[in-house]
Amino acid sequence: MTTEKWVLDALEKIRKKLEITSEKNKDKIPYKTDENGDYDDNSDIRDDGSGLDWWTNGFWGGTLWRMYEDTGKERYAEIARISEEKLKSCFDNFYGLNHDVGFMYMLTAGVDYRLTGNKDSLKTVLRAANLLAGRFNPVGGYIRAWNDMWGNNVGWAIIDCMMNLSLLYYASEITHDPRFANVARLHANTVIDCFVRKDGSCCHIVEFDPDTGKRIKSLGGQGFGTGSSWTRGQAWGLYGFMISYIHTGDKRYLDTAVRIADYCLANIPDNGIIPIDFRQPAEPALEDSCGACIMAGGYLELARELGEKGKVYLDAGKKILKAIAETRCDYSLDCDAFVQNCSVAYHSNDHHITMNYADYFFIEALHKLADIGSFYW
Ligand code: GLY
Repeated sequence: MTTEKWVLDALEKIRKKLEITSEKNKDKIPYKTDENGDYDDNSDIRDDGSGLDWWTNGFWGGTLWRMYEDTGKERYAEIARISEEKLKSCFDNFYGLNHDVGFMYMLTAGVDYRLTGNKDSLKTVLRAANLLAGRFNPVGGYIRAWNDMWGNNVGWAIIDCMMNLSLLYYASEITHDPRFANVARLHANTVIDCFVRKDGSCCHIVEFDPDTGKRIKSLGGQGFGTGSSWTRGQAWGLYGFMISYIHTGDKRYLDTAVRIADYCLANIPDNGIIPIDFRQPAEPALEDSCGACIMAGGYLELARELGEKGKVYLDAGKKILKAIAETRCDYSLDCDAFVQNCSVAYHSNDHHITMNYADYFFIEALHKLADIGSFYW
């Protein structure tokens, strides 16, 4: 399949900009840009789970590894390893780490081990996988989300965690010990039963009784409200179930990904710009380009799996991505990040900002379309 011109153009602009911004920010672990377009830095240890423990800290390394694979330039691997080295010290602090160790360590140590066989990275991956597996609540069949930050959330699980399961599948592949993958599958099965609604939409947070495992209720989380459909959550679900399908071949996961994909298809606006929540009021017209990039990645994986039958999903992924590439991207050096108009949550004040994981998923999705590099999940 020939790669379309808009994809090639975007990739060329990304190469030119990252050549400069990667050097400029080589000692940082960025999350978002400030009013001058400069990246912040999350390299310091803070006790509240921000700083070095912050859940998005793997995406800068992941972006650099993608550029390493794209360009063959060793320098990208060297800069990626600066983050990887720093992130190892989070294990000593420990309290800041949570279910998001998949995001943090798969895209840093995980990719390093996958691409280079670095033995030190392997230790980090297995350490993170053990921590994630240890968060499993066997009576409820779920991996606990977050730590004790907002009162009693011992019984909470979230749709986002579907992405972190890749760390567990990877640990089982490496060690030939099925315990990790078994935990991942039990969690994914719970998500099918307790998060995915009849219409194919997903809730963000589900609260369980941690002693009996009984589902208590769903919570609105980062979306508009209880019963709404936070678009980034739909994207985590779509992509996450594809990951579970890719690693297990279990058709239930593919079927669930299709249900979520079809729900989103029916709600994606004609211009391909994704709101924060598919059920938000028309005004204000708040967007989330980050959820858009993740959703596009999920669609492209689904399309790859379904071949000819998946054309509708390929078209959806391209439509979303083209809208980002052509109308929501800053390829200039005025801003360290690419993807604009990302939103943390419907009810937060951080709307239409940059977020480093949007850039990661944007580049990853373009790489899927151009057949560049490997699958990191
Ligand atoms: N996983 C948190 C978020 O998507 O904002």
